[in-house]
Amino acid sequence: MAQSTQDVLAKRAKFVPKGVFNASTIVAAKAKGAVITDVEGREYIDFAGGIGVVNIGHNSPRVVAAIKEQADKLLHSCFHIVMYEQYAALAEKLTQIAPGDFPKMAALFNSGAEAVENAVKIARCATGKQGVVAFENGFHGRTLLTMSLTSKVKPYKFGFGPYAPEIYRMPHAYCYRCPIGREYPSCDVGCADLLSKMFINIAAAENLACLIVEPIAGEGGFITPPKEYFPKLKAICEANGIVFIADEVQTGFGRTGRMLAMEHWGVTADLTVMAKSMGGGMPISAVAGKAELMDAPMVGGLGGTYGGNPVCCAASLAAIQTIEEDNLLEVGEKLGETLRARFEDMQSRYPIIGDVRGKGPMLALELVHSRETKAPAPDKAKALTAFCLEKGLILLSCGNYGNVIRTLMPLVITEEQLEKALSIMEEGFVAISK
Ligand SMILES: Cc1ncc(COP(=O)(O)O)c(C=O)c1O
Repeated sequence: MAQSTQDVLAKRAKFVPKGVFNASTIVAAKAKGAVITDVEGREYIDFAGGIGVVNIGHNSPRVVAAIKEQADKLLHSCFHIVMYEQYAALAEKLTQIAPGDFPKMAALFNSGAEAVENAVKIARCATGKQGVVAFENGFHGRTLLTMSLTSKVKPYKFGFGPYAPEIYRMPHAYCYRCPIGREYPSCDVGCADLLSKMFINIAAAENLACLIVEPIAGEGGFITPPKEYFPKLKAICEANGIVFIADEVQTGFGRTGRMLAMEHWGVTADLTVMAKSMGGGMPISAVAGKAELMDAPMVGGLGGTYGGNPVCCAASLAAIQTIEEDNLLEVGEKLGETLRARFEDMQSRYPIIGDVRGKGPMLALELVHSRETKAPAPDKAKALTAFCLEKGLILLSCGNYGNVIRTLMPLVITEEQLEKALSIMEEGFVAISK
């Protein structure tokens, strides 16, 4: 007999620490496509997608079938001890997805954070250097190194120091709140030049192994740099022997209407970190990129007991096949156009929406108390997500101020579901604008 929401909440309160946060009190029984059904039979349209994990939809049929088939054959042998074909097949596929016209390799891990850690290890080993450039508004995970790379202090870092050393932070290309007080395009994207300035004032390029950046800073507020930004950063990295790592954990696998979001900027990352929607709902991650870098660590330097588990590999191969065969990149691009038009229309009617930004269907609305002062409105973001939840829409906020509403819905959402969700958001904006 299934437990009620109240039963689960009571156990959760008693046995699970509050540090393990919950954005809602929903207890899921099942999910399909863009809808989650709770244990009482209530349905919710999901604009969170398990934080960007189910771009291809909940319980996508090819993924479920692949998991069942693989589970019948081999659950685990540890790739280091006894190999299996799914790991090699997925590594090959990821080298085709990773950018660049040079030999590439891929290594598999379990979580986004673990893959980020390994990307930094690889860059350090390959360059013989130690420093890492990270960004304000960046988020890379919750392990010691990735928490140290992350910018937002509370709740991600607070009380967990000392942090990992050799991390140097620069401001992001946050045009809505420009770090150099200028305006695009007359600024000439001067914020990218802060990297070269860093070599003078903060850390010598000769000591910097890599720069790690999200194409769109996810947790940090869907910060979306102008088109010149990443090409400029990449050129500075290339000129100074700094490995350019794209953290595509949240942006990858169709989230922005492209397989990888860096494609929007036309930049070839040396190493790309992948996770979340790569697994179609299963825990798997990867670092893929230049073979000469990937192959630098000595035998045994990379890996782990579970990395590239056969069931997760099978799920990931099926998820990628689904994106390709169901044209989900095109679907996502169209969804993005619809969403953007609706959000810009909302922005024209609700002064609380200060900025609409993002790429494809990875969009955000930054809420402010005043368009003049741009005072962040986290209270309004909280009120909006609570209102929407009550009406059956799961909506997430993000941003260092907690005042940004973001969309991470499955790309397979139906027109009817989308319409219903957007009208709930409209109602919500009317309610919080009072
Ligand atoms: C850009 C980015 N990098 C890394 C991570 C960490 O991934 P995980 O939670 O799987 O460790 C996240 C998670 O939200 C992320 O958005």
